[in-house]
Amino acid sequence: MSAFWELCSMSSPDPAIACRLEAARAVVHDAACLAMSMRPPPGGPAGKQKAAQDWLTETDGAVETFIAERMKALFPDDGFQGEEGGVARAGQLRWVVDPIDGTSNYARGRSRWCVSLGLLDGDEPVAGVIEAPALGEVYTALRGHGAFLNGKRIQASPVADPASAMIEMGWSNRVPKPVFMEKIDAIMDLGAMPRSGGSGALALADVACGRLDGYIEIVINLWDVAAALPLLAEAGAYVSPFLRDGGLTGPATILAANPHIADVLSKAVSIPLE
Ligand code: IPD
Repeated sequence: MSAFWELCSMSSPDPAIACRLEAARAVVHDAACLAMSMRPPPGGPAGKQKAAQDWLTETDGAVETFIAERMKALFPDDGFQGEEGGVARAGQLRWVVDPIDGTSNYARGRSRWCVSLGLLDGDEPVAGVIEAPALGEVYTALRGHGAFLNGKRIQASPVADPASAMIEMGWSNRVPKPVFMEKIDAIMDLGAMPRSGGSGALALADVACGRLDGYIEIVINLWDVAAALPLLAEAGAYVSPFLRDGGLTGPATILAANPHIADVLSKAVSIPLE
């Protein structure tokens, strides 16, 4: 019996979810290889803008189609939602894909981008895979069974002092400049070091593995965060109620942070944790 089918027949973890995670890991890896083969060289952006500074490359569509077809063949009854194609199928178990998260980086031949595939059971995130092939990193998480980076267990950072903290804020044209400036100002007033790296999924994964102490984004979508949510939960990070507050069906605000700094950050940027 192969390791895959062995996992599918185990009673703990939940076999239906565990075998899907294994399948997702293989499919995301193949998708990441496809993205690498199409990756533009360093230079001016290779792509077009869906809206101001909101980039789309040929690879976004190719990778999403590749993952959609593979998941349909493997799990025909599962729902599927993609950044580019919207909700293609409904189902109790629902895959949510961001084919390239960090497209603005990808389009310029930069390395900070990833393929992100999350699994929801109803409204609950239960598994996730994020592969960043140009960084040589794969994050995986399974509800109740931990979060991992390249197979090693990860957890949120222990930093409690804002003056030693590094906090990222995501930027997009969806947020009015005064709002962005007010929040980044609040982060800097705490004495924290600000960052903005262009991939919401990888920033949230950074919170899960302790490379960042917090991440906020005022307007972000389910496909950007679906794979990262189980990672954050399993790594012991605190996350604002993104799904409850509209993230399941439309754009919403997210705050994720290590548990020692989450409260201070939440108050400073006025993004409640509950
Ligand atoms: C974007 C990135 C970016 C975030 C934006 C997202 P995309 O996703 O995650 O970091 O700030 O809100 O739209 O367009 O590269 O898939």
